Formats: sequence, C-alpha cells, structure tokens
Amino acid sequence: MQEKTFVAVSHQGESSILMGKAATLAQQMHYKHISISEQDNHLVTLVYTEKGLEIQLKPEHNPQKPLKLHIDFLSSALTYRRQHGGIKQALARAVGIKPGIRPSIIDATAGLGKDSFLLASLGSRVTMIERSPLLFALLQDALHRMAHSPDITQEIIDSLSLIQGDASKVLNTIPHDEYPNTIYLDPMYPHKRKSALNSLEMRITRELVGDDMDAEILLKNALLCALQRVVVKRPKTAASIGDHSPTHCIQMKNSRYDVYLV
Ligand SMILES: C[S@@+](CC[C@H](N)C(=O)[O-])C[C@H]1O[C@@H](n2cnc3c(N)ncnc32)[C@H](O)[C@@H]1O
Repeated sequence: MQEKTFVAVSHQGESSILMGKAATLAQQMHYKHISISEQDNHLVTLVYTEKGLEIQLKPEHNPQKPLKLHIDFLSSALTYRRQHGGIKQALARAVGIKPGIRPSIIDATAGLGKDSFLLASLGSRVTMIERSPLLFALLQDALHRMAHSPDITQEIIDSLSLIQGDASKVLNTIPHDEYPNTIYLDPMYPHKRKSALNSLEMRITRELVGDDMDAEILLKNALLCALQRVVVKRPKTAASIGDHSPTHCIQMKNSRYDVYLV
C-alpha cells in the first residue's frame, strides 16, 4: 500500500523555518517538496505546522475534509496515563514490569509510539521499530519535540530510541548480548467492520500501512530473540497468532495481551 501512495512534503504558512524543515525532510525521504498551494493535487502529504509534523490524508469519499495524524507525547490523554497509570496497568504487567524490575523492551510495531512512551515513562528502556517511513517521520518529530519539553525527564528521553525497518529483519541483526528481556507486538488486525476500529487515529494508520499480514513471521522471530517474553496485543475475540499458544493472557475490555514466556 505504502509504495503505491504518492507522497509529497509541503509547508503551511509563510514561516521560513517550517519551509526549510519541509525541504530537508523531503530531501531525506526522497519525496517531492511542494508548496501549500499545490497540496490539493495530492492524496497524502506530510505537512509541517506550528505544532509539528502531521500526515494529511484525503479520503476518497470526502477529499475536501482531510484526515490528520499527528503524534504528541505531551497530549492530555498520554500525560494522564503517564502520571496515573502506574505499574499495575495491564500493559505494564504484560511486559513484566514489577516492583524493582524494569525489563528492557523492543516495541517491534511502534506505530504512534504510545505504548512505547508509557513503558519508557515507567522506567523501561524501549527501542521502537517502525517500518512505515511516514509513521517513522512522525515518531522522529514527536521524539524531538518531547526532548525539548520541560515536563519530560531526561531519563524518559534517554530511554527511548527509534529504528526504521521491518522488525523481522532488524531482530535478526541484533547481537546476542543485546537481546531484550521483552519484545512487544501490536500488529494491525484485519477488521471487517469500520465500527470495530478503535479510533480515528487507528483508521488513518490503517489507511497508510494496511493490515499486518506477516505478524506470524514477526512473532516467530521475536520468540528467537527475546530473553524472557514476547507479548502480543490482540482484539478480545481474535485467535492467537499462528500455531503458538500463549503461556497466559491478560484480558481487558476490548483487547487482551497474549504472553509467551520464553
Ligand atoms: C497497531 S499499530 C501499533 C500501535 C502502537 N502500539 C501504539 O501504541 O501506537 C501497528 C504498527 O506496527 C507497524 N508494523 C507492523 N509490522 C511491522 C514490522 N514487521 N516491522 C516494523 N513495523 C511493523 C505498522 O506499520 C503499524 O504502524
């Protein structure tokens, strides 16, 4: 899906700083750099705005109303979870966070980086891997803005890192002495009905990256690389991935974590 999408980089307003950033990003990503006045001709654009980088996507049925995707680790929802979530929340328990124990984690399906950010806020070192160049660009920009915020501690900033690529391949290149304690997977699940999708953000993400039909291969590679456990997030009623039966599951309202102890 990604390859078929024409992507350009544009800028908003007359700010020369934003224009410069857009031009640099376009060059790095080998995309075309256009001005905001040309944006109407393009279905997907990466746009620098005053609040950071965002993806704008024109839905076929309503091209006048572009859908916008932006990552903000300082959003009120994430700030609330960072400050009140604690180590008893299901995600923390699933990855093996316990009093005095903070596993090192690879989040092999980083997406919008929310789970990674929360796990890093709880004290784990988290390496994010994302294969979509568009989402990777958003993550990079969001990490950069976060690193300049006085509200975020240096520990959180230092514990998050980001790699672009297919995680199945990236995992194969990791030296044995750098294997993580936990590998976390949250692949896109092929939903049939729109109502089953959990948020507008995820709808846009799906439009951009499609379904992750190779999740079984990723799980196999993850099981070879994790020192202690692999955790897979699944919709509540979906089957587990492939032939592997999880060691145990942590149930939530609409989803669950399948935990594979290694
Ligand atoms: C459902 S989203 C993850 C959401 C994420 N947990 C969060 O908190 O925002 C799934 C993401 O995983 C990425 N992905 C799936 N398979 C991947 C792979 N093999 N390597 C790297 N990224 C992958 C997709 O591109 C997509 O962005």
